[in-house]
Amino acid sequence: MPTQRPRTKILVDGGDPEETAQVKAILGFVDGQTTNPSLIAKSPEVQQRIASGRKLDAEEEKAEYRKIVQRISPLVGTAGVSIEVFAELDTSSEEMLAQGREMFGWIPNAYIKYPCTHEGLRAVEASVREGIRVNVTLCFSQRQAAAVYSASKGSREPVYVSPFVGRLDDQGENGMDLVRNIKRMYERSDHHVHVLAASIRSLEHLLYSFALGVELATVPARVLVEWTKKSMPLPAPDYVFRPAGDTALIIGALLNRPHRRVSDCETL
Ligand code: E4P
Repeated sequence: MPTQRPRTKILVDGGDPEETAQVKAILGFVDGQTTNPSLIAKSPEVQQRIASGRKLDAEEEKAEYRKIVQRISPLVGTAGVSIEVFAELDTSSEEMLAQGREMFGWIPNAYIKYPCTHEGLRAVEASVREGIRVNVTLCFSQRQAAAVYSASKGSREPVYVSPFVGRLDDQGENGMDLVRNIKRMYERSDHHVHVLAASIRSLEHLLYSFALGVELATVPARVLVEWTKKSMPLPAPDYVFRPAGDTALIIGALLNRPHRRVSDCETL
């Protein structure tokens, strides 16, 4: 156990209940879990069925998803289990909402993950009105985070927004700067939206998330194990984020320079 537990809630980013149980045993706690259909497809149970030559149809896929989140649900703390709706580019808000309503009934601590698209945000608006807890995923810009804020205003429950750090890094951007800019943008707000750092790929991403004071971070088991092997350090007050690999990003981080100006969309 760390001498001091981070204020940031830690969620496991995965789809295997055994893995969640193992992480909990190592860490001593797990605040929550995020799942998505592709992570569920990689779970040992689903892989076994596929290996035995049985292809899952849509209903069977949903039934497997439900079984898996029902096993994860009692393992986690107050941050709940995020369940993602099955959505393609042409999926309507009504279709997403119908799935969200059903999935929300699967477990008592569900958060429904909707994509941060026009239709996804319409589903968010309706869900919030119905008291369905939401996690708005695939956030790649401050503008999307501002839209999440407006679409979910009035929510009685905290709403999560998930900026995708690693995917932005993959495109040559500094994903952690987006997290920092969103946190800054939300500073003068009613704080109903909580930032959930997602697509985390390294210990540095995690430590910087702690330093930025994000409310939640979803982390692959591999990174959490690495953290425990180093005795679960927390960032010192003078912590400086050093992104791996890209020299331009490293220089930008050292100069404390966000990749997009906060004034891009500073009013909510
Ligand atoms: C969490 O909600 C996401 O599903 C997850 O962090 C995705 O990360 P990836 O970039 O590893 O797919």
